Formats: sequence, C-alpha cells, structure tokens
Amino acid sequence: MTPVTAKIPQHVAIIMDGNGRWAKQRGLPRLEGHRRGVETVRTVVDAAREIGIRYLTLYAFSVENWQRPPDEVSGLMGLLDFFLRRELDNLTKNRVRLHTIGRTQELPENVQRELRRVTDATASFTEWHLVLALNYSARTEIVDAARAYAAAVAAGHTSPDATTWDTFGRYLYTADLPDPDLIIRTSGEQRISNFLLLQGAYAEMVFTPVLWPDFGAGDLQAAVTEFARRERRFGLTSEQVKPATS
Ligand code: FPP
Repeated sequence: MTPVTAKIPQHVAIIMDGNGRWAKQRGLPRLEGHRRGVETVRTVVDAAREIGIRYLTLYAFSVENWQRPPDEVSGLMGLLDFFLRRELDNLTKNRVRLHTIGRTQELPENVQRELRRVTDATASFTEWHLVLALNYSARTEIVDAARAYAAAVAAGHTSPDATTWDTFGRYLYTADLPDPDLIIRTSGEQRISNFLLLQGAYAEMVFTPVLWPDFGAGDLQAAVTEFARRERRFGLTSEQVKPATS
C-alpha cells in the first residue's frame, strides 16, 4: 500500500493567523507576536522544502491590513524589510525563487527595493518557490485582472469571444503559478478572508488551532498527512477518481 505521506501537495498556501493572540497571551505587544511569526516563516519555508512542497504561498499582508493601527502597519513593513534582507542568503543557498502577488507597487519604497533585489537574485531558480501575498486581496486581484483584460481587448490583442478560464487566468497575479492544492489557516479561525478565492476553487482546507508563532515543521507535516487522506474529486464521482484496484 502506498503510504499516505506519498501524496505531497505541489502548492500549499497558508493564512498565517494568531500572532496578536500569541502576544496577548504573554502580555507582550502585538508586534512581538509578528516578530515571532517571522521566525516561523523561516522554519516553515525550510520544512516545506524538506517535505517536497514545491510552491509555498504565505498571506503576509492583506489590502485590509492597512486599516490596522499605524504603528502596527509600520512595524509589519519593517519586519518585511528585515525578513527580505536576512533571508536572501538562505533562499539563494537553497535555490528558492521568490515571487509576490498583490499590489506591491503601493508598498513603501524600501520594501519594494528589497523585494526587487530578492526576486531578481532568485529569478533563475526553478524547483522551489516562495510566494508572498503582499497588499493582496482576491477582489482587488480580480479588479486588476479585469482592467488589464479590458485594456488588452481595447488594444485588439484579444477578443471577448476568446475568453476562457485559461486565457483570463493569464491576467491574474498568479499567471505563472499552479493553483494551491492545500490551504491551511492557523489560529482556529475557519474562513478564507479574501485569499486566492478563484485559484483555491478545488483546494483542500485544513484549519488548525495552533497560533502562527507556535506553528512548526510537525504541524505542516500533519496538515500534509491530512491532505493525503482526502479524496479530491474535482466534480467527478468517487468511482471515477479512484485508481482501479487489481
Ligand atoms: C495575522 O495575525 C498575521 C498578520 C496580519 C501578518 C502576518 C505577518 C507575519 C507572520 C510577519 C511578517 C511576514 C513576513 C513574510 C516577513 P493577527 O495579527 O491577525 O493575529 P490575531 O488574529 O491573533 O490578532
């Protein structure tokens, strides 16, 4: 019998939640939770590669997160800048390519500069991919794609009659990425919060009560094991997707 762990998702996307509660439980400022969250990011990027997950997407900052208190927003931007400076060596050493999805052009200049530096330095890697969702929301993604698509139609590059999911999908931020197979949310919340709404159409969902700063390699492996147990049917019947038994 094939061990369940043999079914490794190609693309795992994570809604990293619970930094604030982790800090509150310890009487620490919220930013301390985010700081610990950055350490978890390093752990999980390494663990994902060891498990064999080729694409890892992390929801690091949503369009809605700008509405948090200004010192939390600037603290998060500072941590992002710190993370990018610190991780360049680790990503390069492990041949991990960095991608971003979201309106990154609205991020602070210093963060944009670091993002360019790391994405350029890792652009030739093909096996492992880390995708940071930054200033991301699925609804703004659709709006941006619709605008770009309408402009392409107006310029005569494509026609509305030729629209299919595949041709329209090329205008999404994720044009070069496979759909997520597994979406994990930490901290016990059970919602999607405007994350990869279309790309996650057939993703398996795993919700764990573990707060993001406490999430470790074992928790990622547990989610992958749970994924391997699930039967993915993509609208077919169980009989259609089950491999024939001899
Ligand atoms: C959710 O926890 C987390 C965020 C809004 C930000 C996630 C950011 C990080 C893990 C650090 C920066 C990331 C990178 C890639 C450098 P929350 O604050 O909503 O927690 P709560 O629901 O317990 O308040």
